[in-house]
Amino acid sequence: MDTFTYHNPTRLVFGKGTLEKLKEEIPSHAKRILIVYGGGSIKRSGLYEQILSILKEMDREVFELAGVEPNPRLTTVKRGADLCRKEEIDFILAVGGGSVIDCTKAIAVGARYEGDIWEIITRKATTDKALPFGTVLTLAATGSEMNAGSVITNWDTQEKVGWGLPVTYPLFSILDPVNTFTVPLNQTIYGIVDMMSHVLEQYFTHSPNTPMLDRFCESILNTVIETAPHMVKDLENYELRETLLYAGTMALNGTLSMGMLGDWSTHRIEHAVSAVYDIPHGGGLAILFPHWIRYTIDADPSRAAKLAVRVFGVDPAGKSDREVGLEGVDRLREFWSSIGAPSRLADYDIDDAKLDLMVEKALLSEKEFGRFQKLSKDDVRAILQAAL
Ligand code: NZQ
Ligand code: ZN
Repeated sequence: MDTFTYHNPTRLVFGKGTLEKLKEEIPSHAKRILIVYGGGSIKRSGLYEQILSILKEMDREVFELAGVEPNPRLTTVKRGADLCRKEEIDFILAVGGGSVIDCTKAIAVGARYEGDIWEIITRKATTDKALPFGTVLTLAATGSEMNAGSVITNWDTQEKVGWGLPVTYPLFSILDPVNTFTVPLNQTIYGIVDMMSHVLEQYFTHSPNTPMLDRFCESILNTVIETAPHMVKDLENYELRETLLYAGTMALNGTLSMGMLGDWSTHRIEHAVSAVYDIPHGGGLAILFPHWIRYTIDADPSRAAKLAVRVFGVDPAGKSDREVGLEGVDRLREFWSSIGAPSRLADYDIDDAKLDLMVEKALLSEKEFGRFQKLSKDDVRAILQAAL
């Protein structure tokens, strides 16, 4: 294992009826609260009304920032930060999926930062100040509810950038599976792909001696693979929603990276595709991940082989690790297609017209990236080309 220090300050509140816990979780000194939400799903589901009535009971003054877009934008972050300063907000409550939470993280920092928040997101500056915030999660996918990560898109420069700071962990996150019942089929599928991809990013590693971590990863993948085919046919099934909600959080709350450094290239390439074409994150990952594994398999074929045998039940008898691993990739592709995930960039009407731009946006100012295997410009182009 690699050396590590683990600290996760987010209080995780999980289960049916836990929304009421807002009363305990919101700090008593927080008097002026900004609720941040997306395009209106929380109004349609009734969650918005429930939250307002709890906050009213708590006698807090409530402000709102609505309309956070999927793949949240820098312009919205700035609008939120300005609102916080103008109204002297002292606590933010994010209600929604990863986009709303990611946007809230940036607003929380932006509200306390004198300069341009884009400097922080692009790591040209840093800070240890942020407004405190909590979340009510409505979609199982990103893990943003229990990590410090945030991904923001700057449409002016067509850049989608992941960042995070010690001050961007939520103070608490409330996860009631019932609040995910209304997630539509396509977003449910994207969420499944995203959480599986988070495990895969961490599984493809050169860190030595990781038997516990390997099995943590495999157990999440096995559980999601077992659950997903039922979930897509029964969207209001409590137990299935509960399992996926827990899996999504565990996939990216730091547990799997204790002593094991992941790769994260596929996410970086996907963010470039989303930055140019604004496609759903999970959809992009479903297309790209099998191609990334195929392309980098020789960096250590035993990893793909282990995945193939332990997660996809491939019989390794008489085959090389490479052959077993590639069979596993085929099974991964088949599995994602079987639940309705896209498999080619063409599924989003993406052709090679902006291939170079996507390559450029993946590299940004670096010459190469990735830990399992370093990818250069040509490598990224080859992976995207294969995914067309
Ligand atoms: O905007 P509303 O109306 O709320 O609708 C949303 C949105 O249209 C809808 N939705 C969410 N909960 C719902 C619901 N609809 C009905 N019922 C509910 N209960 O779903 C749509 C997608 O929401 P979004 O928040 O965009 O999805 P997700 O949670 O998948 O977040 C994706 C974003 O997170 C970033 C992605 O890049 C993307 O920008 N990521 C963040 C990470 C992190 N912070 O750690 C890691 C990830 O790898 C990822 O990159
Ligand atoms: Zn992701």
